[in-house]
Amino acid sequence: MAVRKIITPPNPLLRQPSLKVAEVDDTIRALIADMFDTMYDAPGIGLAAVQIGEPLAVIVMDIHSGDAEKEPRPLALINPEVVWSSDNRVTYQEGCLSVPEIYDEVERPAEVRVRFLDEQGNEQERLFGGLEAICVQHEIDHTKGILFVDHLSRLKREKYLKKVIKRAKQASAA
Ligand code: NI
Repeated sequence: MAVRKIITPPNPLLRQPSLKVAEVDDTIRALIADMFDTMYDAPGIGLAAVQIGEPLAVIVMDIHSGDAEKEPRPLALINPEVVWSSDNRVTYQEGCLSVPEIYDEVERPAEVRVRFLDEQGNEQERLFGGLEAICVQHEIDHTKGILFVDHLSRLKREKYLKKVIKRAKQASAA
């Protein structure tokens, strides 16, 4: 298990749809362990495999990450797919470990039902609400090459991405 490097724009992998996992084996379980280590280290409440440079449809979440007073709530979802979303929508201030220090409001369905494989390779379906619904949709977006800033206006998106790229350049030059 290891904390891995989180990629940021303009890394083209972030724009690439992830491949479905054909078989849930020890390699996938080791990837998930690294993803949890990386997510908790950041800390963040969600991470997609592509963010550590592995374009596979695997996501991890824990909405209590970074909050020592709350019970951990780790969840790993393989090949996650939204099979139903509510008409009711909510707005939430989102951020992303791959788009550091940028936060803005995104509107999404308030509830979603997601079909996925668990770490044993069994098919599961689960209804998500509240912050978990926001988080799971944000992470599933990553498996499609979508970043949360894509839900904003083009003007905002370009401004934010430019800022992230500029900061990364300054950091690597320093
Ligand atoms: Ni993200």
